[in-house]
Amino acid sequence: MNMNLKKLLLIVCSVFLVVSLTKAQDHEYIGAAKCKMCHNKEVKGKQYDVWKEKSHANAYETLASEEAKKFSADAQNDPKCLKCHSTYHSASADLMATIKAEEGVSCESCHGPGSVYKSMSIMKDHQKSLDNGLIIPTEALCKTCHNEESPTYKVFNYKEALAKIAHPNPLSE
Ligand code: HEC
Ligand code: HEC
Ligand code: HEC
Ligand code: HEC
Repeated sequence: MNMNLKKLLLIVCSVFLVVSLTKAQDHEYIGAAKCKMCHNKEVKGKQYDVWKEKSHANAYETLASEEAKKFSADAQNDPKCLKCHSTYHSASADLMATIKAEEGVSCESCHGPGSVYKSMSIMKDHQKSLDNGLIIPTEALCKTCHNEESPTYKVFNYKEALAKIAHPNPLSE
């Protein structure tokens, strides 16, 4: 084999290796504090504060309430409750990065684990964000938790519910 052909083969192989490594990069859960760094500006709708003040952020806390005791003796340690009340506890251990247990239903339950899409160059680009794990949630995603398996299930009206948790960016309208 001549030298140039060998070099070419080496280059082709390296490119394949890099591509496959990039593809294999896991999407890990980084937690709301990381999103807050870029998503808490007043002019852009401070998504973090809006989320923090609403019930999703409190969903883990809720499991320690008197009402929770009606359904489970130790709800904060009961996988049957945690699967809908805690992003942290429902994420698989090998995808856990910096997310905290107390976060309740966090950003990444709705928008997908953010370790890859969180970088500025990706986030600025809608299509790139989607290609790197960002989810724009739909009614079906809400209903993975808002359904009759919930012991306190209330009829879920998507439009009304969406209005209650809205956190739009006034600049992207
Ligand atoms: C380094 C800064 C940065 C971080 C960290 C970051 N974002 Fe973003 N994000 C942006 C920018 C910039 C945009 C584009 C809109 C804008 O200017 O606010 C954006 C847009 C978005 C959008 C709208 C996407 C679209 O195209 O419709 C969502 C949803 C979002 N981010 C969620 C998150 C979540 C969830 C996290 C944490 C897991 C996160 N972001 C972390 C900077 C960031
Ligand atoms: C990972 C599970 C999960 C997902 C996904 C989810 N929710 Fe929730 N949601 C909860 C839990 C748990 C509570 C109760 C929190 C509490 O009171 O402690 C809740 C509470 C709410 C509430 C306040 C209670 C009420 O009925 O008025 C609204 C509104 C709501 N969710 C809307 C939505 C919408 C809209 C979506 C989809 C965009 C969604 N949720 C996706 C788990 C989820
Ligand atoms: C299938 C998802 C799901 C499961 C499983 C689940 N929850 Fe919830 N939980 C929700 C949602 C969604 C809400 C808010 C709206 C509703 O009640 O439908 C909620 C609300 C609550 C509330 C607040 C009710 C209120 O009226 O403010 C308590 C307390 C609660 N859950 C306790 C529990 C306990 C304890 C368990 C485990 C035995 C559990 N949940 C399992 C989804 C779930
Ligand atoms: C219960 C689900 C849910 C949670 C939790 C949630 N979001 Fe969202 N988010 C949505 C939905 C639904 C939209 C609207 C999507 C659309 O435009 O159709 C949205 C939109 C956004 C947008 C785009 C706003 C715009 O107008 O361009 C940003 C940015 C965003 N979310 C960031 C966050 C951050 C940061 C967190 C956590 C601090 C978070 N979200 C938590 C469901 C959620």
